[in-house]
Amino acid sequence: MRGYFITFEGPDGSGKSTQIKLIKEYFEKKGFDLIITREPGGTRISEKIRDIILDNEHTEMDYIAEALLYAAARAQHVSQLIKPALEEGKVVICDRFVDSSFVYQGEGRGLGKCVKEINDIAIRGFMPDVTFLFKIDPEIGNMRIKNKNRLDMEKIDYHRIVYNAYLKLEKEYPDRIKGIDAGRSIDEIHEEIKEYLEKLLK
Ligand code: ADP
Ligand code: TYD
Repeated sequence: MRGYFITFEGPDGSGKSTQIKLIKEYFEKKGFDLIITREPGGTRISEKIRDIILDNEHTEMDYIAEALLYAAARAQHVSQLIKPALEEGKVVICDRFVDSSFVYQGEGRGLGKCVKEINDIAIRGFMPDVTFLFKIDPEIGNMRIKNKNRLDMEKIDYHRIVYNAYLKLEKEYPDRIKGIDAGRSIDEIHEEIKEYLEKLLK
């Protein structure tokens, strides 16, 4: 039986990693076999690609090159880690996945549909069962971040386009994408996610 594939999306600083840590404990207490991972990254090769993408000095990076690097990191991640884990029946929790490419590269960089095409090749049909979308004004999210990478330093207009694209995706895929009001306290958000997962796992 295929395991569960759960992803977390939203602006930088919206609280995804904080909630993933809490949800890890929740699953472990229930005795689930669990993998926590992130994008870009998650495998040795994908983490190296991450370093190239996020390097603050790489200001000349071409947008198509950027999109292909994210997809390349993802292809390795899916084949080496996500696909085998799901086939073994594990729960896979991933901090960002292909929705990030749709909104950051497709809309933010204006690359449009080709982002879906290159990512269809990368993910080989492995889409999340549920995606928690952390909804918070990107400016507030950005203020929460301490060490900013190349993408965090983009202008606020870019982050607004990305955020609106997330809201559009939420409307497009209401069965998969669950919006979370990320402006609340850490505990309140954790409770809501837990309640949702309780229902899902029944
Ligand atoms: P992300 O993974 O989405 O970039 P983080 O979980 O790393 O976000 O959170 C960014 C910062 O905001 C951290 O310093 C974290 O402690 C803080 N934070 C997380 N959740 C909340 C919250 N609900 N309210 C206020 N601050 C938060
Ligand atoms: P990271 O520090 O991991 O951000 P966060 O903690 O918010 O997840 O940096 C990842 C950055 O890469 C983030 O700005 C979003 C961006 N990104 C894309 O542009 N496209 C993608 O496909 C992915 C996975 C991330």
